Amino acid sequence: MEKQVKRIGVLTSGGDAPGMNAAVRAVVRTAVSQGIECVGIRRGWNGLINSDFVPLNASSVSHIINKGGTMLYTARSLEFMDRPGRDKALATCRLLGLDGIVAIGGDGTFRGALALSRQAAEAGLTLQTVGIPATIDNDIGCSHYTIGFDTACNTAIECIDKLRDTMQSHERCSVVEVMGRHAGYLALYVGISVGATAVLIPERPLDFDQDIVEKIRRARLAGSTHYMIVVAEGAGSAVDIAKRIHEEVGIDPRVTVLGHIQRGGSPSARDRETASRMGYRAVMSLMEGRGNRVVVTRDGSITDMDMEEALQMVKPFPMERYQILGALSITRD
Ligand code: F6P
Repeated sequence: MEKQVKRIGVLTSGGDAPGMNAAVRAVVRTAVSQGIECVGIRRGWNGLINSDFVPLNASSVSHIINKGGTMLYTARSLEFMDRPGRDKALATCRLLGLDGIVAIGGDGTFRGALALSRQAAEAGLTLQTVGIPATIDNDIGCSHYTIGFDTACNTAIECIDKLRDTMQSHERCSVVEVMGRHAGYLALYVGISVGATAVLIPERPLDFDQDIVEKIRRARLAGSTHYMIVVAEGAGSAVDIAKRIHEEVGIDPRVTVLGHIQRGGSPSARDRETASRMGYRAVMSLMEGRGNRVVVTRDGSITDMDMEEALQMVKPFPMERYQILGALSITRD
């Protein structure tokens, strides 16, 4: 017979993402609705190591659905990567009487969750974990969508639209660097949405002549007097790209690195709604005895899958969108 779930922990780990609060709220409120107690673990896995926690009830998560960041704080824990760190974390799990943990973050967070539940099993403790994908990078193989991506795209778009106003007035070239770590999802979606002249992504080797010089030349021939180049941080540095444009095209670009501004702000409808459904699903998965799972989106539906399998998945990059970008940047017949 399945062990009855009486108390669970919830934590956010890794880089924060808008919508993490909405996911915490959904986990807590779903747990309460099922008669399960909930404890917030603060500062990611470090909170388990250091017994840094806070009891949560339905009202503790009021008025956070609209807030960026995470009320539980977040961190990347080096100590948790080793067994002695996880032993300390297990001591806190025992102290709190946790039956399960919902870990909200990226695949590093899920790897930590899996290692913890395995180590718990070796020590004779049943501790089920469920992961919820949340990162502005949208780079988690198992899930089509990750919480925070939509808000980050919208933030970047808003900034770039503003940049375009001044670039247009001065007839300049703008080189904007967006986040995304080793992935180009953010850059590609943003590039399409702002009508960029060119987008550089790590998934595609850079051919400077074709990807930049030629695109600027074509835009210039078509009558453009300003150019917007979006660079994914994983594809190179905007400063270096701008320098090369200056040397090879003879124009003097301005560089903007959007940086952490993309991680902040009130989550979009898509992020709040997805986070709410994912948080609900995570708790129901624990309730129904499905542990070591990751909640994922598949073509808009929410489901959950085995965590180990999830961690091995590679998401195909939507390269057809890159072709779309090329077609849409043609401004003259
Ligand atoms: O993974 C989210 C992310 O914002 C990446 O896009 C970026 O490369 C990284 O985190 C930045 O991390 P930090 O906040 O530690 O500088």
